[in-house]
Amino acid sequence: MKTRIKEIYKTMEYGPAPEDASEAIQFLKKYNNKFNLFINGKWVTPSSGEYYDSINPSTKEKLAQISEANEADVNKAVAAAKKALPKWVSIGAHQRARYLYALARQIQKHSRLFSVLESLDNGKPIRETRDIDIPIVVRHFYHHAGWAQLRDTELKDYKELGVIGQIIPWNFPLMMLSWKIAPAIAMGNTIVLKPAEATSLTALLFAEICVQIGLPNGVVNIITGHGSTGAAIVNHKDVSKIAFTGSTEVGKIIRRATAGTGKKLSLELGGKSPFIVFEDADLDSVVEGIVDAIWFNQGQVCCAGSRLLVQESIAEKLYKKIRARMENLRIGNALDKSIDIGAIVDDTQLKTIKEMVQLGVDEGSTLNQPSWACPTEGYYYPPTLFTDVSPSATIAQEEIFGPVLVAMSFRTHKEAVKLANNTRYGLACSIWTENINLALDIAPQIKAGVAWINCTNVFDAAAGFGGYRESGFGREGGREGLMEYLKPKINESFTDEPLPISTNNLDTPNENGQPSLGIDRTTKMYIGGKQARPDGGYSTVINSAKGDYIGEVSKGNRKDIRNAVEAAHANNKWLNMTGHSRAQVLYYLAENLMIRREEFASRIVQMTNQNKTDALQEVDLSIERIYTYAALADKYDGHVHHTIHRNVTLAMPETLGVIGIICPDESPLLGFISTVIPAITMGNSVIVIPSEKLPFSATDFYQVLETSDVPAGTVNIVTGGKDELAQVLAKHDDVDAIWYFGNNEGCKDIEYLSADNMKRTWVNYGKYRNWLNKAQGEGQEFLKHASQIKNIWIPYGA
Ligand code: NAI
Ligand code: MG
Repeated sequence: MKTRIKEIYKTMEYGPAPEDASEAIQFLKKYNNKFNLFINGKWVTPSSGEYYDSINPSTKEKLAQISEANEADVNKAVAAAKKALPKWVSIGAHQRARYLYALARQIQKHSRLFSVLESLDNGKPIRETRDIDIPIVVRHFYHHAGWAQLRDTELKDYKELGVIGQIIPWNFPLMMLSWKIAPAIAMGNTIVLKPAEATSLTALLFAEICVQIGLPNGVVNIITGHGSTGAAIVNHKDVSKIAFTGSTEVGKIIRRATAGTGKKLSLELGGKSPFIVFEDADLDSVVEGIVDAIWFNQGQVCCAGSRLLVQESIAEKLYKKIRARMENLRIGNALDKSIDIGAIVDDTQLKTIKEMVQLGVDEGSTLNQPSWACPTEGYYYPPTLFTDVSPSATIAQEEIFGPVLVAMSFRTHKEAVKLANNTRYGLACSIWTENINLALDIAPQIKAGVAWINCTNVFDAAAGFGGYRESGFGREGGREGLMEYLKPKINESFTDEPLPISTNNLDTPNENGQPSLGIDRTTKMYIGGKQARPDGGYSTVINSAKGDYIGEVSKGNRKDIRNAVEAAHANNKWLNMTGHSRAQVLYYLAENLMIRREEFASRIVQMTNQNKTDALQEVDLSIERIYTYAALADKYDGHVHHTIHRNVTLAMPETLGVIGIICPDESPLLGFISTVIPAITMGNSVIVIPSEKLPFSATDFYQVLETSDVPAGTVNIVTGGKDELAQVLAKHDDVDAIWYFGNNEGCKDIEYLSADNMKRTWVNYGKYRNWLNKAQGEGQEFLKHASQIKNIWIPYGA
């Protein structure tokens, strides 16, 4: 005995400290280790009669059988949610708040059971489920109980969407469930949720909690199954919105599948987030940050700091510290309270990690791993660091979703930003420096939805989380997250047909109606601040409503669009201006339009045969609308979120970048102004395709632009075939967003084609706004679509 204690002192080995799993085992036994589907508040056997196994990845032991739901089951679940909806809406904000509060209380009460069950099913360390996952779940329900209560006062201009389909991954099973369900039901929707096939157990325990608190039947339905079950939810006609977290690949499938259906979509996808270390950073804190960034949850984290970018002067020193820290990490059974790293979720994921690491070695990067070996009974993978990685290496570009860190170095700040943004993703970034000025200079330059300064992987229900670019769109958490489960009430006043206009008598003489020989009346396009001839050299004749020749417009093609996109990107001037300065330019623009009021009104009359009074009203409203956005330019700003951490969390609306705008055919001037002006107000550059039939108000407008200090490349106008040009824009890799106003077929094409680089799309699904009506034609809704929110976390405390 004596020698053993001496031995222990010598090695300082930890013994196992297993968490008691009996309560979780008891829960599984209660269901005979076999789970049915939770539909309409009851356990229902799957129509397929099929079940599959959920295993414990720490030991490879089978835990339970899970139902495979098929289309018939999905139909049942959606029907239940649809039936429950009217009552759930009518019980009102306060009653819903009470249910959410009860859910929070009950989960909190059973938090130990939830933690153990989650660790058993997923392989993540009990320390993490106990201290991170489940507390965040509880916090989410409490926070959203509050939003439920405030729904009719704080968000009175919005209403619920209806039945929501939610599909979640296996890396944070219950946490993802709470991020999906809490805001959805708080806003008055009902839901059908599908957990990931490998990790359904805590969702099924949650179903039990719903019964316990007496949640009305059908408000929450939980159905299990594989990808095909998810696809059936996505394709169900009665589902109004899909909220998805998972791989970018499946995210793109869902974007394409829902194109043109009018289903709202939020996608939280993959990442390859940079972890940037400047030479003045506190390196010991950095090392602990790295542990949290890439070894937390075995690196199976969408926002994992998987790309370490370190300033060259300190790179070797930091690598040495990381290697030493890796050596001291402990790996083992998820229920062991003293381990740092648990098991990988399943054999498929383990195989992917191994293959990616092999690829890294084959591509010439240097592999660093600890000297110790992993346990053999489960799916384990050691913490791994790759050095000597080229920025274009596969392991530097592709998401590995495992405990694998790839390191690269940089010399200058500029180079750090460039490296950080050298990815198709944009979920998060982590910035380490003791210099707050540097940190706040870098944070806005990184294209990512979350920026953590001297911290990493910090989450809270009060702050939004979500990506830029191919990391998806939409936010979860915070006020911004609620918007994903609501729609503006005003949308209900949109019509199926455009508003009729009052026209002049057809025999009223038209001042400009005759072709004047000898004068070239072909308008050019406007690209990079210059009038440009079309690449193809063709033009299209435009006739008035009466059929008289008015003039011709240039017929733009693919090349013209490409030039316009390039010009838009070259324009940094507008982007870097303050809201105040942009406002001054916009006021000046309005002033210059005012000077040409008569001329613009005549043009409207000429094209539409509308009566002059109405045409003048359209011009006046256009001027007023520019004023509205000039006014908002320095007022549409963000929030400082109240999170539970000692942090200032800034939610800042940022520019999307380059937006393609396909203008409506109604109100030729006002339709152009109402879309283009809010987009540029937020600092974007735009490529505008004016109405194909009534293009001259837009082409006349560049004379106003030219005299108004709008920097070259801010507004680019390409005329021609609307849908042909729109599709070129939708496919273009350097366009960040598309706004499309047209018929439903066109909307579908835009949404479908935009999936390639995950453009943000805003389309009208063939519905018409009355642009003359202020409530429909202007407001913050437009600015919301012109921006995306970045949450910047700045910790305090020395
Ligand atoms: P996945 O994207 O296939 O699965 C996520 C969820 O989507 C699961 O519930 C799955 O059943 C469902 N699903 C699959 N195909 C579907 C379809 N066609 N329609 C509707 N739902 C569908 O992710 P998977 O296969 O588990 O992991 C593959 C890779 O994805 C990982 O190696 C990782 O790189 C990435 N991933 C990223 C996550 C993130 O949070 N960003 C989460 C999980 C995986
Ligand atoms: Mg499992």
